[in-house]
Amino acid sequence: MREQWGSQTGFVLATIGAAVGLGNIWRFAYIAGENGGAVFLLVYLLFVLLIGLPLMIAELALGRRGGGDAVAAFEIDRTGSPWRLAGWVSVVGAALILSYYAVIAGWALKYFLGAATGDLWQAAEGGFGGYFDRFIAGSVEPVLWQGVMLALAAAVVAGGVKKGIERINLWLMPVLAVIVIGLAGYALTLPGSAKGVHFLFAPDWSVLARPEMYLNALGQAFFSLGIGMAVFITYGSYVGRNSRLPRSAVAVALGDTAFALVAGLAIFPAVFALGGDPAAGPRLAFITFPQVLLAMPGGTWIGIVFFLLLTAAALTSMISLLEVPVSVACDRLGAMRSRAALTVTLIIFLIGIPSALSYGLLADWEVFGRPLLDTIDHGVSNFLLPFGGLAIAAYVGWRLTPVVALEASDFSGSLSGRLWLWLLRVAVPLTISVILMRSVGVL
Ligand code: TRP
Repeated sequence: MREQWGSQTGFVLATIGAAVGLGNIWRFAYIAGENGGAVFLLVYLLFVLLIGLPLMIAELALGRRGGGDAVAAFEIDRTGSPWRLAGWVSVVGAALILSYYAVIAGWALKYFLGAATGDLWQAAEGGFGGYFDRFIAGSVEPVLWQGVMLALAAAVVAGGVKKGIERINLWLMPVLAVIVIGLAGYALTLPGSAKGVHFLFAPDWSVLARPEMYLNALGQAFFSLGIGMAVFITYGSYVGRNSRLPRSAVAVALGDTAFALVAGLAIFPAVFALGGDPAAGPRLAFITFPQVLLAMPGGTWIGIVFFLLLTAAALTSMISLLEVPVSVACDRLGAMRSRAALTVTLIIFLIGIPSALSYGLLADWEVFGRPLLDTIDHGVSNFLLPFGGLAIAAYVGWRLTPVVALEASDFSGSLSGRLWLWLLRVAVPLTISVILMRSVGVL
């Protein structure tokens, strides 16, 4: 008998834990900053609602119906179906994402420890740019922190679905919600913070003319929700028959989006109040923001809490990514969970080392004109994840019969069920294809 979540709340919080991560804080802030703020946000919200949510429901339904790992989920039509290739691709994809995600999570941990011990603030004499560059240029520290974060994730996953994954999310996610709301509340009291709010909510429509804005919004929606790499297939396989999947998915999508918005309200008002550049790129959270903190009353305390938030949110997402290959190893190789977690983590650690060194030892080695880590992040979010989404839409929307799809997702024949199926069959594949083709210049 497959392990199941202990409670509906546990399942929803673990799933929110998967969705809420670096994507909502580090990535959301810098992508929104680079893409002009408010209009990007609007397009992003539209994609979350019309593409992300239907796909999340489809993934959960597929996972529960399959009752096994990500590969088994694509064999519902018949065992040995060629669709299972899509399952394998997402398992490898999840491992690939985790390999570089762990590196950035390691940066967050390093910053948290630095903020707590005071090192970070002292070393910042020469500016945080220098501090960050010195840190990521090293060959030891980035790999060390990457390894520590992976070890933490492995320890939780080794504990099992209920005793490991569910338990940590049950207490951590509410704490993180309180922290992020507190941080935003404080940032909004700063003089000049209104400019940051304005940036996030006052549209500058000219951004609509930029084709890459749509791709970035789509990629961000996939990455932040955590769709396309079988995480929700895997988490769905631990859900009981009496859960209502659409309702849970709505809670997760809302929670994830709210989290990103509130985190944006913690970062942008502070950045604007002290004259930072919102389009600073991936360095926004690690250079611009701490700079702002230093100039702010009580900023060093805020820094400790902020980087704790970033680290913990990253950890719960890492756990979800790790669970995908671990469940495959348990199911297919009959491995013990703890041994599977250890072995898989070790492999992912090794794969991630080049990413950890991509600003140091390997800084001269540019892949498609960027450091390796940036290229993987960009390629995964903007191409691999949308392709994963296409596969799920095609399989659930077209390969499964409508009756099976609707029944698996708890929709039965309701109006919302028909809307969901239509989105999955037509709107989702069409939008993803058009955006992908435009971005490679075919359209
Ligand atoms: N959603 C997480 C974040 O926002 C990252 C993540 C977890 C993810 N699981 C995923 C991204 C699956 C893509 C696919 O940080």
